[in-house]
Amino acid sequence: MIRKILPVILCMFITISASACEASGETSSGIRESRIQFIETEAGRLYKIARKQQEDKGTGIFDFEKKTVLLNSGYKMPIIGLGTWTLSDDEAENSVYHALKSGMRLIDTARYYGNEKGVGRGLRKAVDEGIVTREEVFITSKIMPSDYDRAAKGIEDSLSDLDVDYIDLMLIHQPGWNDEAVYKAMEDAVRNGKIKSIGISNYYTRKAVDEVLSYAEIPPSVIQNENHLYYQNTDLRDYVKQYGIVIESWYPFGGRGHTSENFNNDVIVELAEKYNKSSAQIILRWQLQAGFIAIPGSSNPEHIAENYDIFDFELTNEEIQRIGWLNKHKRYENW
Ligand SMILES: NC(=O)c1ccc[n+]([C@@H]2O[C@H](COP(=O)([O-])OP(=O)(O)OC[C@H]3O[C@@H](n4cnc5c(N)ncnc54)[C@H](OP(=O)(O)O)[C@@H]3O)[C@@H](O)[C@H]2O)c1
Repeated sequence: MIRKILPVILCMFITISASACEASGETSSGIRESRIQFIETEAGRLYKIARKQQEDKGTGIFDFEKKTVLLNSGYKMPIIGLGTWTLSDDEAENSVYHALKSGMRLIDTARYYGNEKGVGRGLRKAVDEGIVTREEVFITSKIMPSDYDRAAKGIEDSLSDLDVDYIDLMLIHQPGWNDEAVYKAMEDAVRNGKIKSIGISNYYTRKAVDEVLSYAEIPPSVIQNENHLYYQNTDLRDYVKQYGIVIESWYPFGGRGHTSENFNNDVIVELAEKYNKSSAQIILRWQLQAGFIAIPGSSNPEHIAENYDIFDFELTNEEIQRIGWLNKHKRYENW
């Protein structure tokens, strides 16, 4: 995108050299037209995003007291929560209920998981018991790009299955050939008050994110990606900061079947001993201090409570750096 814009900027604001204009593919008669396009679309929009972020200095900064981060949509999102992949409806209901009882306020699900009804029941139970109000809980769901021709209905189905009036964050589950149509449906749902913030998931490169930004009228607030000790989205995190976008980690422990490889890492074990915490807690604390929202999955109420009990200690900058060096750029999945 930047590569597309730069030559146009050259044509407009710097000495208008024929070669620069040729490089952008613009003829001199097309300059005024490109300038209008420039101001009204691409750069105008980018400028507004950057300006908003500058004005709104808190955007993207983790507040460890409140355990939230301010998104570029203006909403606050909890920085630690519960993941529900592979959980049945009944397991999801139980886990969500215990997560809310433990203090967690962020729940992650997806249409694909088939457990939105269970998530909704867990939420309702906690609300009925006076543990939380709906407004205190941040619900994320996801929609597949293959649903492009029925995205609006998919959003309605999520609302109905979750038994809520709005979804705090809706993500495109993964890139697809027609994810733009899904994105547009999510933008409409934001305008209609059915979704508060929009995000994307499994977009790993600058190019992939730039493509979304090229058509987004409402920029994404969150990118949810595979992100753990051995695959750290550090570069992407630093790149999307300028748009106020925050990275959220799926597989914070490497996912089922890989957790021991993560929990038994020497550096993590050493730090767990030092702080008298579990490996899971050290990893989650690192995730948060490194600027990643984390949603560890669990069907075990004790694990869920443990995963939230990470706010009474702090890793040093040197320790964060040591964990950063564990990155092998190795993903467990390929979607
Ligand atoms: N957007 C995407 O494409 C995508 C893909 C995958 C996942 N996700 C989301 O990200 C969430 C996290 O990923 P995940 O659940 O697959 O993997 P994960 O969080 O890395 O690992 C889950 C595993 O960790 C165990 N565990 C949790 N807390 C523990 C603790 N304190 N001590 C020991 N073991 C613990 C769980 O077992 P127990 O059940 O026994 O606690 C489970 O086996 C998912 O649930 C889902 O919401 C999104």
